[in-house]
Amino acid sequence: RPPTSQMEEVAILKGSDCRAKGAAPGFKVAVLGASGGIGQPLSLLMKMNPLVSVLHLYDVVNTPGVTADISHMNTGAVVRGFLGQSQLESALTGMDLVIIPAGIPRKPGMTRDDLFNINAGIVRTLCEGIAKCCPNAIVNVISNPVNSTVPIAAEVFKKAGTYDPKRLLGVTTLDVVRANTFVGEVLGLDPRDVNVPVVGGHAGVTILPLLSQVNPPCSFTSEEISYLTSRIQNGGTEVVEAKAGAGSATLSMAYAAAKFADACLRGLRGDAGIVECSYIACQVTLVTLAHFLTKLTLPKQWF
Ligand code: NAI
Repeated sequence: RPPTSQMEEVAILKGSDCRAKGAAPGFKVAVLGASGGIGQPLSLLMKMNPLVSVLHLYDVVNTPGVTADISHMNTGAVVRGFLGQSQLESALTGMDLVIIPAGIPRKPGMTRDDLFNINAGIVRTLCEGIAKCCPNAIVNVISNPVNSTVPIAAEVFKKAGTYDPKRLLGVTTLDVVRANTFVGEVLGLDPRDVNVPVVGGHAGVTILPLLSQVNPPCSFTSEEISYLTSRIQNGGTEVVEAKAGAGSATLSMAYAAAKFADACLRGLRGDAGIVECSYIACQVTLVTLAHFLTKLTLPKQWF
């Protein structure tokens, strides 16, 4: 049997190397905030993703337990846990994709902007680590308010001289996931067959479902448009109120984040034609807006 170090060496081959050797591609992924309501199910889903060969779980609490638990799953990824600021650099070194669900969630009566003071600082510290240890990684920001945490991450990377707007992506897939579900319900369609682009931003009225561009093509009454727009814009608040103080969406969010991360990994692998909605730096909008939630084709072969 090869020693563990050799086995890991095989496991952490990157996509391009693997293709050359005819092996299955594998990427190194870190989840920052891995012990949280989103972080745990998201880590589980990433451990199940065949494109992931190494999975690093980082948090300021509870990562030994979460890591031991997830590492028992008989899937391919090697799982390692990292606890606290002193282990952040080890968690990030060499990562291809970093997913950030770290930060406090909303309680009833709070807007996403109310999270700004705490989550902005958390995202800034984590991004400083990314700039230092894995400056070429794709970064998926989940922490709210996404409309602000993504620009903060951009500023950290600019200051460090590592900013690449194509690699910094705010995760807004949950808005699309919700829109597909609610439109499917109204039209009597399987939600897996529905695709609703959602643009604008990721807070209240900035969430703009493009109901005129739903696939498959369809039409709505004005009552349906008003119901769907309101339900999609307030989907997050619906969950916050139903959880009554126990947090915001975690399970549907983990599903959405895993779906988006998978699209990013397929982009890294070099797959063509991957279209997703994400909150990114954008020039297509009003001059005052530096970031915008838009439909984009993920770059074929980021490397
Ligand atoms: P949670 O409180 O259950 O988990 C957050 C985790 O982050 C905790 O384990 C905590 O220890 C960890 N954490 C705190 N400070 C940290 C640091 N400096 N470094 C690393 N980890 C740290 O919260 P939940 O429900 O998982 O939500 C996380 C974030 O995701 C919130 O900001 C929430 O608003 C946001 N969110 C975003 C959505 C989106 O569509 N983009 C949807 C739902 C939630």
